[in-house]
Amino acid sequence: MPRPKKHVFVCTQNRPQGHPRGSCVSSGCGAVMNEFMNQIQARQLFDDIALTNTGCLGPCGFGASVLVYPDGVMYGKLKVSDVQSIIEQHLLGGEPVKSLQVPTEVW
Ligand code: FES
Repeated sequence: MPRPKKHVFVCTQNRPQGHPRGSCVSSGCGAVMNEFMNQIQARQLFDDIALTNTGCLGPCGFGASVLVYPDGVMYGKLKVSDVQSIIEQHLLGGEPVKSLQVPTEVW
């Protein structure tokens, strides 16, 4: 397996309804994960971009949360419609999408 240029971690943590921290599942992370998968497949980016679902990344109030390494960029409150710009501008273009990042006091 070639070493990927970027590794995308999508929080897919679930919690019971009414839990005080909420969860990325209740914020729609499943659809966000699917969109990353579909776009990576459609563009044949498997060698350059690794995609992993993960447990809680920390900023639960900002779900759906996505963390990109090696840059250490945390995105929050992501919707399906945000995935394309992250792929094109950040993962391929090397420029993080500032408008989608969580506030600096959060990460
Ligand atoms: S549940 Fe996703 S960041 Fe905590």
